[in-house]
Amino acid sequence: AYVAALVPAAGMGLRLGENLPKAFVDLSGRTLLDRALDGLLASGALSQVVVVVPGPLVDRTREICARVAGDVPIDVVVGGAERADSVRAGLRAVDRADVVLVHDAARCLTPPETVARVVDAVLAGSPAVVPVLPVVDTMKSVDADGVVTGTVDRASLRSVQTPQGFDADVLRRAHAAADHATDDAGLVERLGVPVTTVPGHPEAFKITTPMDLVLARAVLAARQP
Ligand code: C5P
Repeated sequence: AYVAALVPAAGMGLRLGENLPKAFVDLSGRTLLDRALDGLLASGALSQVVVVVPGPLVDRTREICARVAGDVPIDVVVGGAERADSVRAGLRAVDRADVVLVHDAARCLTPPETVARVVDAVLAGSPAVVPVLPVVDTMKSVDADGVVTGTVDRASLRSVQTPQGFDADVLRRAHAAADHATDDAGLVERLGVPVTTVPGHPEAFKITTPMDLVLARAVLAARQP
């Protein structure tokens, strides 16, 4: 099967407090994008990667991709205003694919095993697959004033990571049918197509805040032999 991975990295995502889109921020000597590509390729499960970036960063991205080892082709395309627009731009570059993964560069420490697990689940027949973790905190719903309105049953909740994996036709239909969603599986759900889960990994956390960078550096230090 031809498996393509899209890496939407076209958001300005300046919450890290750096003057750069998140995927281009340095983490212990290499960008988040570098590290995300390494993890994807180390899965051994991919036929192609498409990185989606802001127009002004295309050249910079090509340099990063040229440094990433391996014989899997890595294409660079320009993203759009919303994340979904960026994913659609990536989809246009993967017309051969049977399976498409969508992976946030911000989850750059995702273990290759997690990537492979998602691909395997799609190849085994699930049209849409998301890696998930149980929710550890107690969950409350609140009103506009922050007053608690209820306690949500934690046992039925999961937090969702990436890569999310899809039958390519299902993901194309999902993106043709709807405009806005924070994740691709959300669009697939609206089609009425079942979305199944596989175990995620704590190291697949999304680097969003400066605190996450501290954690990411610690994870990398612990990985040193
Ligand atoms: O902002 P957030 O962390 O939700 O973005 C998730 C991912 O989507 C990031 O990797 C970001 O670069 C990407 N994105 C994109 N195009 C946009 C907005 C976000 O590729 N227009």
